[in-house]
Amino acid sequence: MDVRAKQRLCYRGIFLPLACVAAVSPHVISIVMCLPATELLSMPDKHYLNWKLAEIYDLDSPWSIDRDFYLSLAGAPPQRILDLGCGTGLLCDAYAAKGHHVTGVDPSPAMLKVARRKPAGKKIEWVESSAQNYQSNDLFDLIIMTGHAFQVLLDDTDILATFAVMRRHLKSTGCVVFESRNPSVDWENGWNYEMILEYQGEIIRESRRFLTMENGRMIFELHYEFPDESLVSTSELRFSSRSDIEERLVASGLRVENLLGNWNCVPFDEVSSPEMIFLARASTP
Ligand SMILES: C[S@@+](CC[C@H](N)C(=O)[O-])C[C@H]1O[C@@H](n2cnc3c(N)ncnc32)[C@H](O)[C@@H]1O
Repeated sequence: MDVRAKQRLCYRGIFLPLACVAAVSPHVISIVMCLPATELLSMPDKHYLNWKLAEIYDLDSPWSIDRDFYLSLAGAPPQRILDLGCGTGLLCDAYAAKGHHVTGVDPSPAMLKVARRKPAGKKIEWVESSAQNYQSNDLFDLIIMTGHAFQVLLDDTDILATFAVMRRHLKSTGCVVFESRNPSVDWENGWNYEMILEYQGEIIRESRRFLTMENGRMIFELHYEFPDESLVSTSELRFSSRSDIEERLVASGLRVENLLGNWNCVPFDEVSSPEMIFLARASTP
């Protein structure tokens, strides 16, 4: 069974097969059903298709040091910037506010709905698409994939298709930057957390629970207690090795120019670095 087919949304602590989710979550199931076959193959994590969870995304993922890093990468405005898996568009908004021309791509209508409301949202081109299926005649100075969005790509074919999209849309002088968590780090211990969020005067309890790590794939749950309902989403992330990623970049016509290990730009160290931050360029102009 495809790993993504294993993903479930469950309400009030009871796992439901996908067909049953339709009854409690019409938004989610209608998105699944109306997509063409090519998009179904690259379905986003269902967590991000949920309208309620998209609304609170910026509360548990506010502006952060990784976004400072990505923002600093752009040269003098206006640069052409492509953000694959842009989510709620915090970074797109910050680039656009600096005068850059920004395209934000995400397969989730719910995340894009929140993104469009950002202050500079009207200046940004928003595209509903997976990274693998994005197509445009535009070429970009900077192509990014942030917030570990790269790790939602579970299959080799999705990774290769995404790198092909990056290569095809890169200017000869352009740069591709994305990060993946270092698989040598013990992510299992320390993965769980609990937090309290306040949204429009209501308290929401959120907790993350590690389930399994097998063959470089982690499965975990996010639990939410809203005032009117409980919701649990199950997600899966791929923890690729440095060599796996580098081989696929090279096979896609990209070469790694630099590999950093954290957001303070320290060079990558296999044992201690939390992140693998790849900065790549076209192998041939
Ligand atoms: C953890 S969020 C990161 C969002 C944003 N980049 C950030 O830094 O906050 C992961 C995002 O990847 C998107 N996503 C899921 N599958 C994707 C795919 N195949 N291609 C591009 N984005 C995808 C989700 O919809 C979600 O918005």
